[in-house]
Amino acid sequence: MTQDELKQAVAREAIKYVVEDAIVGVGTGSTANYFIDELAKLKSRIDGAVASSQATAERLKSHGIRVVDLNSVNELPVYVDGADEITEHLAMIKGGGGALTREKIVAAVAQKFVCIADASKLVGVLGKFPLPIEVIPMARSHVGRELVKLGGQPALRQGFTTDNGNLILDVYGLSILKPLELEAELNNIVGVVSNGLFARRGADVLLLGDAAGVRTIKKK
Ligand code: 5RP
Repeated sequence: MTQDELKQAVAREAIKYVVEDAIVGVGTGSTANYFIDELAKLKSRIDGAVASSQATAERLKSHGIRVVDLNSVNELPVYVDGADEITEHLAMIKGGGGALTREKIVAAVAQKFVCIADASKLVGVLGKFPLPIEVIPMARSHVGRELVKLGGQPALRQGFTTDNGNLILDVYGLSILKPLELEAELNNIVGVVSNGLFARRGADVLLLGDAAGVRTIKKK
């Protein structure tokens, strides 16, 4: 199977977690896009969707799926999204698409986070994928210097502005052995809006696609 076929397979499997007559949280990226395409097939059976980015909102709307403001939602049973890296403990690096802050907000509200990924995303230690950090523009240099002190090599994502009007620093060279601690430490740097470590609120379920099919890994 190609990587795209694996992404499609996990997206199809994630439909089983969608709760009828409820709002579903929808992530951002190529795997999430496959999920949106699957979701469109049962759009009459859901109440609507909360989008984690403008791109996702546009795709949902193009399929005729109602997009709802997160503030008007009392309960969000499920959030489905991809990841750039994920461990067996279901901690993740996200934000390759630059939507990490909104993804983290929607994930925080959701009762269940279902991560959909092809097998290339499963890693022993997080950090080979550069860790995205959303920063307030005027704090870019300050945050960069602080990241160097932590042993990282930050690079400004060129020509990119987030949906929130901020910048992304992609941090290379980190071997993240304590994701919970690092997530908190990064959040404490003044000027950081959020970081792409999803450890405090990791996934609850991972649907991992490989040649043998879709494996379900649940949080222990
Ligand atoms: C976007 C994300 C995506 O979930 C992550 O980048 C994975 O994307 P893809 O499914 O295209 O591999 O965090 O901000």
